[in-house]
Amino acid sequence: MATVSGGDRDFDLTRAHFQRVRQLIGEYAGISLAASKQDMVYSRLVRRLRALKLDSFDDYLQIVVADEQGERQAFVNALTTNLTAFYREAHHFDVLDRVLGEFGSRKVRIWCSAASTGEEPYSIAMTVVEHYNSWSPPVEIVATDINTEVLRQCRSGIYGLDRIEGIDAARRKRFFQRGVGAMAGKARIKPELQRLVDFETFNLLGDHWSRFNGVDIIFCRNVMIYFDKPTQASLLKQFHRVMNVNGWLFVGHSESQVRDVPGFVAQGHTVYRSQAVGVAA
Ligand SMILES: C[S@@+](CC[C@H](N)C(=O)[O-])C[C@H]1O[C@@H](n2cnc3c(N)ncnc32)[C@H](O)[C@@H]1O
Repeated sequence: MATVSGGDRDFDLTRAHFQRVRQLIGEYAGISLAASKQDMVYSRLVRRLRALKLDSFDDYLQIVVADEQGERQAFVNALTTNLTAFYREAHHFDVLDRVLGEFGSRKVRIWCSAASTGEEPYSIAMTVVEHYNSWSPPVEIVATDINTEVLRQCRSGIYGLDRIEGIDAARRKRFFQRGVGAMAGKARIKPELQRLVDFETFNLLGDHWSRFNGVDIIFCRNVMIYFDKPTQASLLKQFHRVMNVNGWLFVGHSESQVRDVPGFVAQGHTVYRSQAVGVAA
């Protein structure tokens, strides 16, 4: 049987298995896995085979398809890439601060739609608290992700000190508690900040979008890059449908395809504003 690589591995990941993995992750999460990702797939899924004490990828993929004991979610968790950082693409948080000023005292709804391990939604929350200089700002922040493991990390609000060292000292003092004893080497988001963010599982390819009707600001950064063009286009249309006219959309630095979707108008680097379709230039 043709294996994807090296004969020194514990399990054979054949080309047929790899193609099946690509098909399934496309179906479940919209992720378009490149043909070059076979080694990555092996190293991420082999842990699941070991955890389940399975002998082969054949057995494993059957369990995923049958969704035995929630293995489909574990498969998705294993194959998503969760790279993130506090204040990643920092200019967005300066723009967010300015944008919040436009809403006056009215309630603002923010949706962070690919929250990963929480650095992005907590960066949004810190910006909000600083903007209003209040722990009770008129803002609702919902942070979602397809990956249930990263959401667990979000909810814990605990990060290694190395994750927060790029944040300036005043912010670290205001928003984090430094761990002691068993928690040495870690920092925890202060509860006052944590309670400003609601975390939920949500698949951007899924249904139940009405949950987000009337949202004012959407962060969708560094996830569309994993989707193919038709999926990106339909996702952007969904965003446009649920968000308020004159709402704001923040995307990742290489996600310029928003320009091609009617109803979004560029407002500087990777920031867009929604307009009624037919009004946008
Ligand atoms: C590279 S991280 C980006 C995190 C953050 N937005 C940032 O820019 O730092 C991509 C995130 O998108 C999530 N993701 C992938 N496919 C998704 C889908 N179909 N629905 C929701 N989230 C998805 C992954 O689980 C991962 O946490």
